[in-house]
Amino acid sequence: MNLDPFKNLKNKSILVTGGAGFIGSNLCETLLQINAKVTCLDNFATGHRHNIQPFLENKNFTLIEGDIRDLETCQKVCKGQDFILHQAALGSVPRSIADPITTNNVNIGGFLNMLVAARDNKVNRFIYAASSSTYGDSEALPKVEEIIGKPLSPYAITKYVNELYAENFFNTFGLNTIGLRYFNVFGRRQDPNGAYAAVIPLFVKQFMSHESPIINGDGSFSRDFTYIDNVVQMNLLAITTTNNAALNQIYNTAVGDRTTLVQLTDLLKKTY
Ligand SMILES: NC(=O)c1ccc[n+]([C@@H]2O[C@H](COP(=O)([O-])OP(=O)(O)OC[C@H]3O[C@@H](n4cnc5c(N)ncnc54)[C@H](O)[C@@H]3O)[C@@H](O)[C@H]2O)c1
Repeated sequence: MNLDPFKNLKNKSILVTGGAGFIGSNLCETLLQINAKVTCLDNFATGHRHNIQPFLENKNFTLIEGDIRDLETCQKVCKGQDFILHQAALGSVPRSIADPITTNNVNIGGFLNMLVAARDNKVNRFIYAASSSTYGDSEALPKVEEIIGKPLSPYAITKYVNELYAENFFNTFGLNTIGLRYFNVFGRRQDPNGAYAAVIPLFVKQFMSHESPIINGDGSFSRDFTYIDNVVQMNLLAITTTNNAALNQIYNTAVGDRTTLVQLTDLLKKTY
């Protein structure tokens, strides 16, 4: 990725919540390459120390181990930050069905804490991880930001509520927010383990250990699989855009292409 357009982020203070996770650690890595001052807030619920291990020696990197469900922690870490890239959340639809209360507390309660702390600390911009799950039962294609359906899971509800709160904080308090609706992100440092692993790292792991991946159904359902670098770039664009019309908006963060599970497994088979 060409980082030249983002050089003006040098020495800016940027908080990445969920910075020890898959997407967060990739954001931290790129921001450090630009010489931004990066703070990572994470409670390691699903993130890993090994994801951020290489950054710990960097003088521009600060790790704060803490929980976004604690308002005091959020207030402390937001102090002096220019920008926030809010990634911390409990992902996975099945996890949210198994334990809707914890997902709600983290994804909505924690999100609200972060908004309040960003507002109180006069952070310039609050960019947050939204989700394609907000399209819910809408069958309309292509997915355009204005047309959503009813959410199909507790996880999707939390991500939609985030969008509503962000808009409310923009309108009520003038907090500059931008939501990025990620579509099935994949790439380096994505966790292949555990009951809630995403399909690409899970299948790659299975192929590498000569196991056959299990596809539920006939494998014809498709997803827009989005490479991590595209997601990092969207976050950098959201922080740096000088177009005020981009504020208080939500953007699809996707490739704009469909891949079925059958196509995906065929591609992986050729590679591994
Ligand atoms: N990966 C995808 O395909 C995808 C798609 C749509 C949206 N998203 C969203 O992107 C964000 C990042 O997802 P990811 O794939 O990197 O997941 P991840 O699980 O790898 O990262 C989430 C991070 O948040 C941390 N975290 C969880 N609860 C926390 C809490 N209470 N306090 C502090 N930290 C906490 C975890 O420890 C982890 O490091 C999430 O908000 C997720 O909902 C991801």
